[in-house]
Parts: sequence; C-alpha cells; structure tokens
Amino acid sequence: MRILSGVQSSGRLHLGNYYGAIREFVRLQDEGEALYFIANLHALNTVTDGEAARRLTLETAMAFLALGVDPKKSILFRQSAIPEVTELFWILGTRVPMANLERAHSYRDKVENKKAQPDFGLFAYPVLMAADILLYDSDVVPVGKDQKQHLEFARDWATKLNVSCQPKYDPQDPLGLKSKVPGLLKLPEARIREETAVIPGTDGQKMSKSYGNTIDLFGELKPIEKAMKSVKTDSTAVDAPKPTEGQPLYDLLKVMLSPEEFAEVDTAWRQGGKGYGFFKERLIAAYHTTFDGPRARYAELEKDPAEVERLLADGALRARALAAPVIDRVRKAVGL
Ligand code: ADP
Ligand code: TRP
Repeated sequence: MRILSGVQSSGRLHLGNYYGAIREFVRLQDEGEALYFIANLHALNTVTDGEAARRLTLETAMAFLALGVDPKKSILFRQSAIPEVTELFWILGTRVPMANLERAHSYRDKVENKKAQPDFGLFAYPVLMAADILLYDSDVVPVGKDQKQHLEFARDWATKLNVSCQPKYDPQDPLGLKSKVPGLLKLPEARIREETAVIPGTDGQKMSKSYGNTIDLFGELKPIEKAMKSVKTDSTAVDAPKPTEGQPLYDLLKVMLSPEEFAEVDTAWRQGGKGYGFFKERLIAAYHTTFDGPRARYAELEKDPAEVERLLADGALRARALAAPVIDRVRKAVGL
C-alpha cells in the first residue's frame, strides 16, 4: 500500500493539523510505503514573502520530524523539489472543467469571505493538489474532512484523463481486471478519520490559521497556554452539570486525553461541581503530556538545519524515482 499526503507550509502548525492529519501520517507509516511532503508550492498562494516561505517550509519539515514522521520509514520531501508535479498539473489542467473549479470550496470560501482577491493560483489549487495525489501511484490519502472534495476531484480528473487517452479504458473497472487496460493514473482513496474530523478552535469554529483561533504545537509556551485558557465556554455555574454540545473545550479534551482519562473528565463535566477553569487546566496538562517530547525534539532539529536539508534532499530523490514512470506514461499518452 502506498500512502501519500501533504501539509501546506503556510504558517505555524496547530492542534487541528496534528489531530486531523499528522497523527494519522505517523500511524500509517507502519502500514505501507508512505510519502509525505511539505506543500510549499500551494503555500505561495498565501505566503508572498520569499524569506518567510523558505523559513516556513523548513519549520514544517522540522515539525513533521519532531512529531514522529520517521525518515527511515517514510519519504519526506518538499513539493517544489519534484518538477514533474507542475508538469502533471498542466497536463491535467487541460482536461479539467471550469465548472468544477468554480464550485471548489477552497476558491468559493475565499471569494465569499472576500478575504482575498482570487487569483489564478487559488483557482488552480485543486489541480495542483490532484497532480500531487496522482503522481506517485498512491493508494491511500489521509486528510482532514475539509479536503474531501479535493480527493473527489482528483479521482474524477484522473478518470477523465484515463478515458480520454485510453479508448479501451473502462471507468467501472479502473484496475483493468476485465478490460486488461488499467488506468494511466491510479485512483487513490481518501482516508478520513471521523472522530477527529474537525478539531474546534478556541472560538468553537473549525481550528484554522485563517480564523486566528489556533492552539499551536511549537513556539513559545506562554501564548499557547493563554490560547488554551481562552477557549470559549458559557456561563453555566460551577455547581451545575455542563452542557456537552457545541463546547470546544469538551471536544478538545475528548481528542487530547486518553479514553480512560476522558471518561473521568466526562463524569466530572456531567456531574457539576467543577468550573471551566478546572477543565482548562486538564487541557493544558494534556498538551504537555503529548507535546513536551516533540517540542524538545523540535528544539534539537532547530540547531541542525543542515541535517533537515539532507533528509529532505534524500526524500526528494526517492519521490522523484517513484514519479518517473508515472509522468513517463502520461507524457507518452498525451503526445509529448
Ligand atoms: P489551516 O486551516 O489552518 O490553514 P491547513 O488547511 O493547512 O490548515 O490544513 C493542513 C491539514 O490539517 C489538512 O489535512 C487539514 O485537513 C488538517 N486540518 C487543519 N485544520 C484542521 C481541523 N481544525 N480539524 C481537523 N483537521 C484539520
Ligand atoms: N491542500 C492540503 C491542505 O491544505 C495540502 C495538500 C496539498 C495535500 N497537496 C496535497 C494533501 C495532496 C493531501 C494530498 O492541507
């Protein structure tokens, strides 16, 4: 089984990135051949300062390593180190319906929020992501729920290219078991873990750097603890049982504590007698239990950026070797 995923290097990583994505990456590296990359080309859509883009790419790589992505088990690389991905991006783009891109969440959300002047990079974002997904013949793509549409697009467009280049290709039989014509591009499956599908931020909306409601994984502790103390609660009295619906504090405790610890906290929550401050302290303690180790490893990696560069360069070589036969098939089929 070949596993592939990426995270944009567009800012500091937060709890949502860990529980929604990176924790799963670490688990999956024992189940197959894993490729993980820093989506630094995608990040150019939001990070326009070159120096910041370079720094964030390296920081994201260090975060992956500190959180347990093991370069002996997984292939870790920069998206930009694989020129074949932008080539496949273009080729796929020649078959992508405009109507698909117009209804892509990544584009629509930004346009509707009027946060950004939409430019071509944002519009074409799903096509580059599809190229990432299809370039390495991957089987499984672990992502957060918000990326589901991108996976569906990747599968649709791969099917389109397969059909348009291979007259005998049967979309009902993508592996070519009956037709003997397997797709030029393999159709991977999304792997979305429902229980951690959406990690709430401090205000109760989805945790996201674009909402300014994050609890970060690395960096100074003070603002991180402050963010945990600022998680939105209601005015339920200390003695009263606390409501469990729409409570980001409750949901965060649920993902961050072990099932046994959570069972105990859950009882206290429902019984009443403890104020929200008590539960916030439990959250801070859980953060330390989980992230003190990674934070120490991150500090070590920061002292040796040359080693991180070496690991990334090695990963890029291995990733390119896997991309080579795929791009070769595609070039031939489209007539390049
Ligand atoms: P952000 O929303 O902060 O910009 P990204 O879009 O860069 O985060 O997300 C990187 C990865 O982390 C994706 O796989 C995404 O699905 C996952 N992720 C981000 N935020 C959350 C969240 N709040 N809950 C679950 N997964 C998340
Ligand atoms: N769009 C993804 C995100 O925001 C990052 C990403 C880029 C990705 N290419 C990918 C994820 C390919 C999985 C597979 O998180």
